[in-house]
Amino acid sequence: MTKTPILSIIVARTKNHCIGINGDLPFHLRSDLQNFKKLTSGKPIIMGRKTFQSLPKLLPNRTHIVISRDYNFKAASGVNSAVLVFSNLVTATAAARAIASENGLDEVFVIGGGEIYNQAQSLADKIYLTEADCEIGGDTFFEINDESAWETIETTHFAATEHDQFPFDIKIMVRKPINGGKTT
Ligand SMILES: NC(=O)c1ccc[n+]([C@@H]2O[C@H](COP(=O)([O-])OP(=O)(O)OC[C@H]3O[C@@H](n4cnc5c(N)ncnc54)[C@H](OP(=O)(O)O)[C@@H]3O)[C@@H](O)[C@H]2O)c1
Repeated sequence: MTKTPILSIIVARTKNHCIGINGDLPFHLRSDLQNFKKLTSGKPIIMGRKTFQSLPKLLPNRTHIVISRDYNFKAASGVNSAVLVFSNLVTATAAARAIASENGLDEVFVIGGGEIYNQAQSLADKIYLTEADCEIGGDTFFEINDESAWETIETTHFAATEHDQFPFDIKIMVRKPINGGKTT
């Protein structure tokens, strides 16, 4: 039997947990964007309507799954089969997983923003968490609702460069097995 594709959150925040300001990211980290592209390419990506509208263009080679309560929301001009709109996260996740399964993929992504990250945490299997070594005031934040539910299995450090505004770490966190993985 094929396994259900996992649901992963991918997010980048500052030390004070800011992820957004005025509809944009609070920093520019080119290496992190390259990692985002590498991880998500070819896979379905789930996002809130505001994050979708903040994208300068459709991200190539990824099905965009947008969540909106507005039944009249029609994704902006230029929309094609690369964009699907759903009215809630559960149906959006089911659709993303179905598309991934059809294409032999093992992972789908939640790519933001703040509202959708918050709701997705209880459903997610994995978090790719970028933590930039800076404090920036913003209007959108990412908090891990239950730190004890997650184990960090990998941390990779990146230095600041001319293209990476601040030093940062990319952490990979996986959900701890319920009951510590013990069978009863
Ligand atoms: N640093 C990062 O990693 C990162 C990643 C992505 C985005 N961001 C930033 O995050 C900010 C945007 O985040 P945000 O929290 O303002 O908005 P968002 O999560 O992108 O989108 C919110 C919208 O999603 C829809 N929605 C939310 N919950 C829903 C539900 N339960 N059912 C149906 N629809 C639902 C609603 O759309 P309608 O209003 O249409 O109903 C809502 O207005 C931007 O600044 C962006 O740059 C940062």
